[in-house]
Amino acid sequence: MAKPTLRTKLCDILGIEYPVILAGMGGVSRHKLVAAVSEAGGLGIVGAATMGPDELRDEIRKIRELTDKPFGVDILLPAMAPTPQGTSTASGGGRGEGDIPSNWRDMLPAPQREFAASLRSKFDLPDVVPEFPTPSGRRERTIFGPGFSRSQIDTILEEKVPVFASGLGNPAPYVEEFHAAGAKVIALVGNVKNARRVAEGGTDVVVAQGAEAGGHTGRVGTMALVPQVVDAVAPRPVLAAGGIGDGRGLAAALCLGAVGVWVGTAFLVSLEAAWDDTLKQRILDASEEDTRVTRIYSGKPMRNINNPLIEAWEEGGVGTLPFPFQGAVIQEVTFAAQQAGRKELGMNPAGQISGMLDEQRPAKDILAEIVEQAAEIIQRLPAGVPAVTS
Ligand SMILES: Cc1cc2nc3c(=O)[nH]c(=O)nc-3n(C[C@H](O)[C@H](O)[C@H](O)COP(=O)(O)O)c2cc1C
Repeated sequence: MAKPTLRTKLCDILGIEYPVILAGMGGVSRHKLVAAVSEAGGLGIVGAATMGPDELRDEIRKIRELTDKPFGVDILLPAMAPTPQGTSTASGGGRGEGDIPSNWRDMLPAPQREFAASLRSKFDLPDVVPEFPTPSGRRERTIFGPGFSRSQIDTILEEKVPVFASGLGNPAPYVEEFHAAGAKVIALVGNVKNARRVAEGGTDVVVAQGAEAGGHTGRVGTMALVPQVVDAVAPRPVLAAGGIGDGRGLAAALCLGAVGVWVGTAFLVSLEAAWDDTLKQRILDASEEDTRVTRIYSGKPMRNINNPLIEAWEEGGVGTLPFPFQGAVIQEVTFAAQQAGRKELGMNPAGQISGMLDEQRPAKDILAEIVEQAAEIIQRLPAGVPAVTS
């Protein structure tokens, strides 16, 4: 079959063939998947939220061994003020190595710690506690903050990555540096207010992520959010995210005024995704009603495949702690669950689109199906779709 043609303004902006972007999913969108999507004509984005500079540099270099096509890196920006370029130590509210007391675990509030301990017994889990050096569990002795983001951004700039994406926060303070380096900037938002904010900050492409999405998510559905963001930031290009799993989703997004799609869960079950097979299978087995938004894993609302641990915490009446401390508390349960082989109790972010996914496939097949189906639908529309340029 001949290759379909489906070009929008996004393809020219990013130098790609098809208007489909792999969402930067932490722990999932790593070099193999990123390179596979870019090679197939979309844009692969590394989910680098928790990657320190060394790991990130390594990922970027591995991608370049697999493809010479454009790709991007996604990180989570803190709400605090950024440090100036070249500053590697944290400041402006960020925290570095020396700021975290070694007994930080003992300082977590008793109600949540005790509840976590009671859940370990409820699920017959071993009495083991992870010895992570920081509340966020990362190897680097630093927690999310401007110093950490700065070190990630320096790496992205040094490695001349063509696309920078921020999954959280406003990239405005960094836009000039990225543009000077010839890179494009993408920002994810979940409401119109933040869309305006990132657009005013000079972001090249705004991703309107609806509540159907897997992972950290907002409250407004994709169908309602996309056209409102399109209108609010016009003529700046907008991508639709959340609940897009096939060509019908891409065609619908273009009809809503978007110039492309940012796809997470549909690629999460690809063969190249760096995700545990048992967890992928739980997504493939799930129906559209089997996800639940919970703060128990990170302290922020995150859509996951529902499981007995989420149910027990949510029904237990003990509130969650703010990010990243809730993660530190729940690790006491999830680490023990991992030791006991109870993978189903762990974090498994996935969107409502899970219900229409039923097999693991190569990423290039997923992308080809999205594009072919969308191109066919659009061809059948009497007047075409304005966003499609050829
Ligand atoms: C497993 C998983 C991990 C994610 N991690 C991140 C992340 O680290 N950074 C980010 O910006 N978005 C992250 N997201 C959200 C995606 O970028 C994207 O917005 C979402 O998956 C789109 O909705 P969909 O899952 O319905 O396609 C994650 C989503 C999933 C499913």
